[in-house]
Amino acid sequence: MSPIVSPSLLSADFLHLEESVKMINQSNADWLHIDVMDGVFVPNLSFGFPILEAISPICRKPLDVHLMIVDPLKFIEPLAKVGTHIMNIHYEVSPHLHRSLTAIRAAGMKSGVTLNPHTPVEVLEDVLEECDLVLLMSVNPGFGGQKFIHRTLEKTRRLRRMIDERGLETILEVDGGVNATTAPLLVEAGADALVAGSYVFGHAHPFEAIDGLKALCR
Ligand code: DX5
Ligand code: ZN
Repeated sequence: MSPIVSPSLLSADFLHLEESVKMINQSNADWLHIDVMDGVFVPNLSFGFPILEAISPICRKPLDVHLMIVDPLKFIEPLAKVGTHIMNIHYEVSPHLHRSLTAIRAAGMKSGVTLNPHTPVEVLEDVLEECDLVLLMSVNPGFGGQKFIHRTLEKTRRLRRMIDERGLETILEVDGGVNATTAPLLVEAGADALVAGSYVFGHAHPFEAIDGLKALCR
């Protein structure tokens, strides 16, 4: 099975966002990854609803929204309204994760939980059934173009085992430093979905970069 590929808009040319979204529409990418940052949870700001509202009507791929913000639950309703497919919230800002994931599903979105590099996958043992997706960060969130943290491969294997042992359909996604070298290792370790920002948008031929990721097989 080939991995789900979710190019991250964070690395697109912000002066030509429409072109970037249309390029993704025409590509074999599966989703569009949207990185929302608040400058509090992560040391950077990206973009918010004005951009999401502009992109949503022209984007033909499901929106995979990664919220790097301290209070994501405030935005369940507006995110559902702009057509979010997967709402990813960070474990590290979620004291009542079970309730949060249930509320995301009740709003008609897929529930995603994201783990920072230092957070072990075992913290999800008692809430995995509520996760439609788990996103493992393979860099510290906040910036595109960072170096892949290799320990993520071991985490990916452990999470794969947890999902399979329970017979769940939870999608295992990895984000950060994904490229032609790290993607095969991740897929081999059990990743179902790959986020790729600088690798896709910085590539001379983004369609080829996407097709190369899609050609992997686990
Ligand atoms: C980092 C973001 C990533 C980022 C990935 O905080 O969550 O989605 O765009 O960028 P690359 O693929 O360049 O590491
Ligand atoms: Zn992301």
